Amino acid sequence: MHFTSLRMQQFRNYPFLELEPHPGITVLYGANGSGKTNLLEAMHLLSLGRSHRTPTDREMIALGESVALVHGETQRIDGKHDVQVRLYPFEKPQKRVFLYGKPAARIGDMMGHATVVMFSPEDIRIVRDGPSARRRFVDMQLSQIRPSYLKALRSYLSVLESRNALLKQNKVEGVSDFTTQIDTWDEQLANAAVPLANARRWFLSELGTNATAQYQAIAENAAEPFELRYIGALAKSDTPHQTMLEGLKRARREDMQRMYTTFGPHRDDMGMFLYGKELRAFGSQGQLRTAVLSIKLGEIKLIEREMGEFPTLLLDDVFSELDLKRRNALLKSTEGVQTLLTCTDKQDAAGAKADMFLHVTQDEHGNATIIPG
Ligand SMILES: Nc1ncnc2c1ncn2[C@@H]1O[C@H](COP(=O)(O)OP(=O)(O)OP(=O)(O)O)[C@@H](O)[C@H]1O
Ligand SMILES: [Mg+2]
Repeated sequence: MHFTSLRMQQFRNYPFLELEPHPGITVLYGANGSGKTNLLEAMHLLSLGRSHRTPTDREMIALGESVALVHGETQRIDGKHDVQVRLYPFEKPQKRVFLYGKPAARIGDMMGHATVVMFSPEDIRIVRDGPSARRRFVDMQLSQIRPSYLKALRSYLSVLESRNALLKQNKVEGVSDFTTQIDTWDEQLANAAVPLANARRWFLSELGTNATAQYQAIAENAAEPFELRYIGALAKSDTPHQTMLEGLKRARREDMQRMYTTFGPHRDDMGMFLYGKELRAFGSQGQLRTAVLSIKLGEIKLIEREMGEFPTLLLDDVFSELDLKRRNALLKSTEGVQTLLTCTDKQDAAGAKADMFLHVTQDEHGNATIIPG
């Protein structure tokens, strides 16, 4: 797929921008702080409903403004798609999605109209940060590939919230029919956990196969065995519903004390291993970066296979930092794929086989504009 049009109003330091992205490789160059990442962030928002760098939507609205708008049109194998996100900092809901100009019933409905894979310096957090960063990564990528996943995730989290609320109420003020109520929530949570665990297991197995192959292709030492593993309460269970129910029963006493559900896929993790040892603790800086790049390249392949077409690639500041071998691996993945690549100097993108150069500049008020050439 590719973006045929991108429009932004009052988004970050763009008062207004209209762009027809090239279907091939575009290099966005400009000084630090000019607005390159902001543009990629807007495309990420259109694809996944959120920024790649902040959980706070409000930050994306231009300072002093009361609404921001991002509108994208894409061409997919099944035809043209039209998706719009508007952010209102002072209203509820703060985020509204429009499909083909009409309000969408749910934010999740926006999935699948635009698909992107972003490479950014922050990706290293997938390895370095705690499990929640990796769950977020898995959840976002799965939602892109399978829009129904997001619905399953939402319903699990909503049951979880209710169960936690009951645990809290019981400890604080006592609940007379606590056992009956918690049994009901356990049953519902087990029902909701099954599709989640199944989807994650499938995703991590497929992504893992691709990432292992990519790692071998780009590592200094091709014999280094890199592996992804699904780590979690239901990761290895053939009867996840039963395992979930049993786990909840076992943990009930502790949960009552802590007023929190301690067992279930909300605590899952994506394990990354090199030579069977945990990468985060054991890997060198270079190995960590290679692993992240392999995961991303593996993701492109998985999206292509599952959706029948490539996503748009957003490469923020990563190209110039890669050595020749990794650069070539990345370029191989961008053949025939819409790619937007940022760098500070035009020369940094030499070798990227660019179809188009765009210069991002700021005026004296800090507002960004884009000049071709
Ligand atoms: N909500 C906002 N409203 C107005 N301007 C903003 C807002 N958020 C960020 N900015 C401005 O956007 C600019 C940063 O843009 P961006 O992160 O896209 O820079 P960049 O071109 O990617 O720079 P670098 O090369 O350093 O990565 C800064 O000048 C910042 O002040
Ligand atoms: Mg940037």
